[in-house]
Amino acid sequence: SSVVAVIPAAGIGSRMQADRPKQYLTLQGKTILEHTVEILLNHHAIDYLVIAISPHDTYFPSLAIANNPKVKVVEGGNERADSVLNAVNTLPENTWALVHDAARPCVSTHDITQLLTVMDNEQVAGGILASRVRDTMKRGADSQAANANFPTVLHTESRENLWHALTPQLFPTTLLKNALYDGLAAGASITDEASAIEYSGHKVALIDSDPANIKITHPGDLPLADFYLHQRQK
Ligand code: CTP
Ligand code: MG
Repeated sequence: SSVVAVIPAAGIGSRMQADRPKQYLTLQGKTILEHTVEILLNHHAIDYLVIAISPHDTYFPSLAIANNPKVKVVEGGNERADSVLNAVNTLPENTWALVHDAARPCVSTHDITQLLTVMDNEQVAGGILASRVRDTMKRGADSQAANANFPTVLHTESRENLWHALTPQLFPTTLLKNALYDGLAAGASITDEASAIEYSGHKVALIDSDPANIKITHPGDLPLADFYLHQRQK
């Protein structure tokens, strides 16, 4: 069945503290959003793309991709999940939605292909790219230490089965639509697509990703992403 890419690109990038939303910052002569669109559209399994854009956005219309027939646009919402739901609502039934952050231009074609293998696995509803946690993980206490400006350790979490959830995240369109709708209506914490799917009781595969697939979030992530994009072109 066919795969449609959904790109949430309606954020304002507050943590980047730039003069524009971070997806419109330029790396190697192209905006971050254009890098992301290019890698998805170049994947043979992806039919077309739906991008969620803020109604206040003044940057998107001037990009060449705005005129690409394989690029459709929907209005973004207040939260990332609202933006994704607006996009997923426009997709035909019997498709798969491959949701990928605009702010992750360093994803590899190989990892997208690995993720697509979950479509043939009946044990799971879908799957996500993820990477194993590397550092020792501490659970901090709620309150700060007395007379100090730092929290203290409650205990050390086992690192064994802890993963970072990345994107893309791939699920059947109708299942994802219903899961996002139900999760949002229930006020559940829906910070990625998988959390909505888990909330509705379905199994999600963890597909090991190259950790270069970073979400550009802070100013220091820009030179790192620049390096990874450069590596990919070699
Ligand atoms: N996003 C979206 N709609 C929103 C919020 C976020 O489509 N209402 C998108 C962002 O554009 C980004 C992705 O979701 O591609 C991941 O979100 P994040 O990294 O948090 O981006 P921002 O929300 O823009 O950044 P910040 O949280 O620092 O403001
Ligand atoms: Mg955000």
